[in-house]
Amino acid sequence: MRISVIGGGYVGLVSSICFAELGHLVSLVEIDPEKVESINLGKPLIYEKGLKQLLSIHAGRNLHARQNYDAIPASDLSFICVGTPQGDDGYADLSMIRSACRSLGQSLKDNDDYHVVVVKSTVPPGTTEDLVMPSILEYSGREPGEIGFAINPEFLREGLAVQDFMNPDRIVIGSNEKRPGDLVESVYHGLAAPIIRTGLKSAEMIKYASNAFLATKISFSNEIGNVCKRLGIDVYEVMKGVGLDHRINPYFLNAGIGFGGSCFPKDVSALIHLADRVGVTPVLLRSVMDVNEQQPLKIVEILLKSVKDIKGKRVAVLGLAFKNDTDDVRESRAIPVIKELVGRGALVAAYDPKANASMREILPEIEYCKSASQALTDADACLVLTEWPEFGDLNKEFELMRSRVIIDGRRVLSCRDAEGICW
Ligand code: UDX
Repeated sequence: MRISVIGGGYVGLVSSICFAELGHLVSLVEIDPEKVESINLGKPLIYEKGLKQLLSIHAGRNLHARQNYDAIPASDLSFICVGTPQGDDGYADLSMIRSACRSLGQSLKDNDDYHVVVVKSTVPPGTTEDLVMPSILEYSGREPGEIGFAINPEFLREGLAVQDFMNPDRIVIGSNEKRPGDLVESVYHGLAAPIIRTGLKSAEMIKYASNAFLATKISFSNEIGNVCKRLGIDVYEVMKGVGLDHRINPYFLNAGIGFGGSCFPKDVSALIHLADRVGVTPVLLRSVMDVNEQQPLKIVEILLKSVKDIKGKRVAVLGLAFKNDTDDVRESRAIPVIKELVGRGALVAAYDPKANASMREILPEIEYCKSASQALTDADACLVLTEWPEFGDLNKEFELMRSRVIIDGRRVLSCRDAEGICW
């Protein structure tokens, strides 16, 4: 099929490359000339396991990036993959959706072929029906029925996005009529996954509810972990026993300093605002966020029990990315921890295998180290904030510290004398 993708960010790029891998002819629309050039040269600007290899196969063959919408009229479907960041009021900022709809609608003006507009961006329930449909129909001047509408949320984890795209747990397709939904379904032909067909609003809600549920699992584990810590109980032993109940399942129950990233905090916040707007008090979701706000500060509380006055003390911070296998620091729990340390006068020596540069843009005032050893040298304490597996191999490096106070916020260390945040 001929597919256009609007937006060459994380979701748009991964989706475009994977659509090409599924055998489709893909045209990616991206306004940033640097991104367009890099994609056409087969060199993605983001790191994602397996992505570069697939792009090098498809770039210039069945995948072309462009700055304009010229390829849209000849496409069967257009996937909108632009960002929906958190607005100042905590709700989803839909300005990029609006401008994508305007350009997309205008490009469909002088065309009689049936076309399906698919929203892949995470949007509050009702957005496709109330904003995307009227806007596309207005700018294209086409009649309802000439253009079909669908919503097809993504469930891609950073670091594992290609694997998640090619081996999904499920494919969710919401549509206003049967025909556009059928067309989206045929795009995924060949992937062995259950397909869930719904109306537009339900599919939009499935994405929010999924992320909110996963975030809830993490905050739940963290709250149980905080109680376990007081009682001298290992929360990992507890959650293993809990998770093996098939009604619960063992994933996403790892206690630690909380969740970050570009999705969970933003989507739970948008859902809270949505609930408020429709007159429902989102008690549980607010608590999920409250636990997540408090959790990173717990590691500083534990540190202060061992090192009472941290003013002028060197604190090695290992891990800055919001999780391992990425250089992304958006909403990383390392940010509030480092701010708290700096506010108390500590000298932070930070190291991350991939995210030093991206954190330096947010927190330029701290020292960035080339290795864990460098950060640990003469440190008075060490905090581990990201679940990088390589931190599990650290052992003799801790001997470089001035005093051996090690606190693990992610349960990755193998040394026996590290204290856990919830264990
Ligand atoms: C998430 C969703 O998993 C994905 O389906 C969605 O579409 C996009 O958002 P991502 O943000 O890439 O993906 O990261 P994820 O692997 O889900 O981790 C999110 C955060 O939760 C990280 O900060 C991670 O450290 C934390 N986490 C995860 C825990 O604290 N405990 C866990 O058990 C799992």
